[in-house]
Amino acid sequence: MSHNQQTDIAKLQQQVQQLKEQLAKAQRLTALGELVSTTTHEFNNVLMTIINYAKMGMRHKDTVTRDKAFEKILAASTRAAKITNSVLGMARSRSTGQEPTNIAQLIEDTLLLLERELNKYRIAVDKHFQPVPEAFLNANQFQQVLLNMIINARQAMPGGGRLIIKLSHDPKEDMIDVVIRDTGCGIPPEVLPRIFDPFFTTKDGPDASGKGGTGLGLSMCREVIEAHHGRIRVESTVGKGTAFTLKLPTVTKATQKATAPTTTATTAVPVQCFPGQQPIET
Ligand SMILES: Nc1ncnc2c1ncn2[C@@H]1O[C@H](COP(=O)(O)OP(=O)(O)O)[C@@H](O)[C@H]1O
Ligand SMILES: [Mg+2]
Repeated sequence: MSHNQQTDIAKLQQQVQQLKEQLAKAQRLTALGELVSTTTHEFNNVLMTIINYAKMGMRHKDTVTRDKAFEKILAASTRAAKITNSVLGMARSRSTGQEPTNIAQLIEDTLLLLERELNKYRIAVDKHFQPVPEAFLNANQFQQVLLNMIINARQAMPGGGRLIIKLSHDPKEDMIDVVIRDTGCGIPPEVLPRIFDPFFTTKDGPDASGKGGTGLGLSMCREVIEAHHGRIRVESTVGKGTAFTLKLPTVTKATQKATAPTTTATTAVPVQCFPGQQPIET
């Protein structure tokens, strides 16, 4: 190889690296944008409740009405405090550090942020949580994965539907399984292998609540899960719905892996797509 060719390759490698960094930045900004839009909407809703009950308490002087108004104001502000705490938590843990994490709590925190949005679009939430060991995760990153997956599910059910979230432990592999299932439009088999590609989207742009349309959500989800040595699987049937399964190592498994000899490493298949019954492995 000539010297010129070598410098060309070096230049190309540098460009690829730069583009990768730009993509990562775009993914982070998208996730942040969706988080800001979610929390602002939720917060505004809480403020409306507080304002309305404060007005009611001022209009009616009787103790019964005032007590009720205070109760509602207290409940709404407690919720507001939980929302800000959750966002502050995400803002604080900017690091990529992973630690033992209670996934059930993380799902609850995420659902709290999306409660109003899911109500508004008439989406019922079914939770089937089995007791599971702690996972070894970066809670901040994993919460962004959950946020994106639940928003995608909501957007797939414009006329309402059901969001089913399952949490269980797979003792054979010592992995924690999180299933996020919707009763939405589903994904056609020819589209399915592309959904994890950066910038792939079937949406026209952000919807009324300012979310989706960048095609960066699932590519971010995939990267986060890969960084955690986990796997994502998707199964979908057009007209019936979609289920994403996230598999994440437990603390025990993750810490064992860290001490295991590197020679045992196998090539992982991070993403598997199952359109209908025919599996495609990417
Ligand atoms: N739950 C789902 N139901 C149907 N289609 C989905 C679902 N999740 C993702 N998709 C498809 O995958 C595409 C990529 O998703 P994503 O990367 O989050 O980007 P975006 O939400 O910005 O379109 C979506 O545009 C949609 O076509
Ligand atoms: Mg999305």
